[in-house]
Amino acid sequence: KKLLIDLIVTSFEQLNDKYFLLKLFSNTPLPEILPGQFLEVRVDKSPATYLRRPISIHFVDYEKNELWLLVAIVGEGTRALSFLREGDILNCLFPLGKGFCVNNIKGKKILLVGGGVGVAPMLYYGRIIKERGGKPIFLLGYRTKTDIIQIKEFARYGEVFITTEDGTTGERGFVTQHSVLKNMSFDHIATCGPKPMMVAVAHYAKHVKVSCEVSLENMMACGLGACLCCVEKTIDGNVCVCKEGPVFDVRRLSW
Ligand code: FES
Repeated sequence: KKLLIDLIVTSFEQLNDKYFLLKLFSNTPLPEILPGQFLEVRVDKSPATYLRRPISIHFVDYEKNELWLLVAIVGEGTRALSFLREGDILNCLFPLGKGFCVNNIKGKKILLVGGGVGVAPMLYYGRIIKERGGKPIFLLGYRTKTDIIQIKEFARYGEVFITTEDGTTGERGFVTQHSVLKNMSFDHIATCGPKPMMVAVAHYAKHVKVSCEVSLENMMACGLGACLCCVEKTIDGNVCVCKEGPVFDVRRLSW
């Protein structure tokens, strides 16, 4: 069930120069939301014009009936969102798209690989995995120390490993160079982040013969399969990432 409703900002937190965290309260009970799903928020630029922006769901707090969004300021839309403060209202359409696999998780060790703003959906996925008796292992990649965000939150649900490109925290290099990939084995891998990173993770998964899901960050506008700006080539032809994805089993992609 999709909702088109006004959510109320209960907290705004600037995490560093690029990222902020928004917590949004819903007056109506939140529907079932799967990790990896996203919402379309309405960004008002002037009373006459608005645009919708897809933002992935960082966390769902059912006790407080709150959604968390981890947003990177990348353009005009996300900058406008960074001016929201407690008590402001944000019109949202959600939950949209297909999320990560949440079945048969019990007893499974699942590696969650996030890079940049792609770490966002991994927090909620980690919680679901833990809740359902699985073991999430987070492997998060950043450019540098000051980019690192939400680590305490991730650590509540599983072990966290970090790489930075300049070596200021964790292991130096890219996520696919981290020693945990040599020292541990996994039952499933999920990844979200820049495409070259996800391609490298998918190759690693293939090499170690483990199933792998990727969350694509194709350009999206309508989020409903209407504008066709988010098309991705799959083995079954071209599909809209916003409807058929954003999460795909990597075997479906022509990578
Ligand atoms: Fe419009 Fe996917 S965003 S079709």
